[in-house]
Amino acid sequence: MAEHIELDIDGRRVAVPTGVTVAAAIAHAMVDTLGSGVITRRSVSGALRGPLCGMGVCQECRVTINGRAHRLACQTPIAAGMRIETATDCGAPT
Ligand code: FES
Repeated sequence: MAEHIELDIDGRRVAVPTGVTVAAAIAHAMVDTLGSGVITRRSVSGALRGPLCGMGVCQECRVTINGRAHRLACQTPIAAGMRIETATDCGAPT
């Protein structure tokens, strides 16, 4: 059985498996709220964007982590108590 840690995604406390990236944690959390698709940010035109390459190249997975904007969700391992902000509530990082 996988161990879980708790963190905050868009103000919601969620438990996610240990050892995953922030992008995977967001996907894990969004399955319940959005069904499918992972949204991390908005483009300058306001379009919703999500992780694409998963290897730190496309920059589409940028989120705010613990108040620091433009962190790559696909390259950042989760940590207990982390606060992650995505574009799902329109208060989004661009
Ligand atoms: S998904 Fe492409 S940089 Fe993170």
